Amino acid sequence: MKTYVVGNWKLNFTVGEASIYLHKLSKSLPNYRNLEVVVAPSMLALQPLSLQVDRRRIKLAAQDGFYRDYGAYTGEVSFSQLRGLADYAIIGHSERRYVFKEDDKTIQKKVAAALRNKIKPILCIGEIESERAFGETADVIKDQLLGGLAEVADDNLSKVIIAYEPVWAISSVKGAKLASPDEISEVINIIRQTLSDTYGPESAEKVSVLFGGSVSPSNAGAYLTIPGVNGLLVGGASLILHEFIDIIEIAKKVQA
Ligand code: 13P
Repeated sequence: MKTYVVGNWKLNFTVGEASIYLHKLSKSLPNYRNLEVVVAPSMLALQPLSLQVDRRRIKLAAQDGFYRDYGAYTGEVSFSQLRGLADYAIIGHSERRYVFKEDDKTIQKKVAAALRNKIKPILCIGEIESERAFGETADVIKDQLLGGLAEVADDNLSKVIIAYEPVWAISSVKGAKLASPDEISEVINIIRQTLSDTYGPESAEKVSVLFGGSVSPSNAGAYLTIPGVNGLLVGGASLILHEFIDIIEIAKKVQA
């Protein structure tokens, strides 16, 4: 199975800065087999970067997309417009859920729209601090997981990547804490068990599950060795080129 290192740039970098970063990243990356390096720039940068990127080495992800293909939806960009530009799309990120009030219904339509347009969804799920404190983590995870996948046909399941991002561990969240490997492992098991119970063990095994939340070169190795984790979704550290490269190198070593 592939290992994924995905950099979510969020609302950072101008188009020019993004292009320079991508150029430098391509120059420093050896051609790793079975390691999928993905960056998620802003919508604005996707088009020029899609012309620049060598997709054999680096893939592009959109940070979002709209579920209708076209129509009177001012300000939106559809997955049909992103088709061919992005290989992946981050969907249901906690910032979309909590800042932009996206619910599971919206997210499931986006997952389906991405798949319809040959874009692999990276479906983000994760509990907030108070849900964890009240012992609701398992329920929240199951609801977000099955809610997000509700429109996915069984034979498309392996095209969806799940990213577990405990919201309380995201670096930009006030008072963020590091998630421990044990805490992560417990939730990864819930995700894998829920997939297995719903789709059968064989289909569940084919789904890649990533972890995200304050990933850095100092914890990437520990997170990547958690059983059932197939990669990392990196926010802040992906903005610092040498840190992102360090994380990629660590992923390569863990895989070897
Ligand atoms: P940080 O790595 O900055 O905590 O961000 C995680 C994240 O939200 C990636 O999608």
